[in-house]
Amino acid sequence: MKITIIGGGSTYTPELVKGLIDNRDAFGLEELALQDIRPERQEAVASFCRRLMEKEKASFSLTTATDRKTALNRADFVIIQIRVGGQEARNRDIRIGLDNSLIGQETTGIGGFAKALRTLPKVLEICSDVVQYCPNAWVINFTNPSGLITEGIIKATGVQTIGLCNIPYTFKKELAGVFSVEPRDIELDYVGLNHLSWVRKVMVHGKDRLPELLEMADSSSDILPEELDYPVAFLKILKAIPSGYLRYYYDTSRLLAELKSSPKTRAQTVMEIEKELFEKYNDPGVIEIPEALSKRGGAGYSEAALGLIDSLVNNKREIHVVNVQNNNSIQGLPEDSVVEIPCLVNSYGAHPLDAGDVNPHQLALMQHVKAYELLTVQAVMEGSREKALLALITNPLGPEASKALTILDDIIKSNQLDFLH
Ligand code: G6P
Repeated sequence: MKITIIGGGSTYTPELVKGLIDNRDAFGLEELALQDIRPERQEAVASFCRRLMEKEKASFSLTTATDRKTALNRADFVIIQIRVGGQEARNRDIRIGLDNSLIGQETTGIGGFAKALRTLPKVLEICSDVVQYCPNAWVINFTNPSGLITEGIIKATGVQTIGLCNIPYTFKKELAGVFSVEPRDIELDYVGLNHLSWVRKVMVHGKDRLPELLEMADSSSDILPEELDYPVAFLKILKAIPSGYLRYYYDTSRLLAELKSSPKTRAQTVMEIEKELFEKYNDPGVIEIPEALSKRGGAGYSEAALGLIDSLVNNKREIHVVNVQNNNSIQGLPEDSVVEIPCLVNSYGAHPLDAGDVNPHQLALMQHVKAYELLTVQAVMEGSREKALLALITNPLGPEASKALTILDDIIKSNQLDFLH
């Protein structure tokens, strides 16, 4: 089996390599191919990965390429984890947001919009190469905004794709710690879109422990992860735990004030973390995953990815929360649009489970954000500036119509989006 990582020079890659070494018997991996357009980054990452592989006597080979053809040729799985424009572009998005008193977070608000516009065209180019060089491969998309990008891949190409985010699995692991069980003992009743989701039940050995969890959270602030700093009374009314990203919608002014008063943007902080990581990756004496990697938001993503691949390759029929086409699992959203939902995963793919009744509060927000996502995908597919403008003003965290044109022009200029007419 061959796995290809597009964006192999990502500082996250060694975590995936470590996971592949630890699960060496799970899927008969023969080759891991890294592809990145920035050879210096990729070589630093690959040399560290080779040290890890040597130390652990890995049985697969690691290859690197800057051209996609070599890397994709005969791949069985293609993981796409690119960041078009790097952290500099992320920083510009945040700044455009702050200059306009808007949320410019990398997936949410106008930051997610700008990132989607510069990223989706590149991801579609990658997918057309997938069609040419490895048409039967599964594409696993981590590229943010992950739900929207997966929506675009599915709408514009015939590539079989599953969108993935580390958050559902990470939350499950955290809950396993709270209830002193293994993550596999927990099933989440989970509904939403990527970064716009709610956990409605926490099933531990078949019993819903959400009410108990909320009682525990009421008496101790250490129970829920730090980013879920919602008042417990509010969670009890929702009867669900919202994703941390929903704070941008529920608590916009507070979050904006926090972003404004922060001495550094998240992009600047990540640049510092990456500098430290590359120093370690380039140091021949370093043969352990550096502690600094745990400071990245996506840490732990390899477990989510490898669990999913294992279930696909070995027909495990496990349940994974992933981004796939709705297929009527959530009534009230288009059948063919992408949702983040528990799926039964076997060798034929990820099959969404019926979400049952969805609270109108949750459905309304999902419909609103999905309308924005679909308009953004159409803007890219049609090269339409008009659709991009509509998308921007449809985003619940977007600008007032009177400011939208100027902001869109700023985004087009700072990202050189010449395809929008
Ligand atoms: C979370 C999200 C990812 C995102 C990451 C950002 O894990 O689920 O989608 O990429 O945070 O982390 P960073 O370290 O780049 O801020």
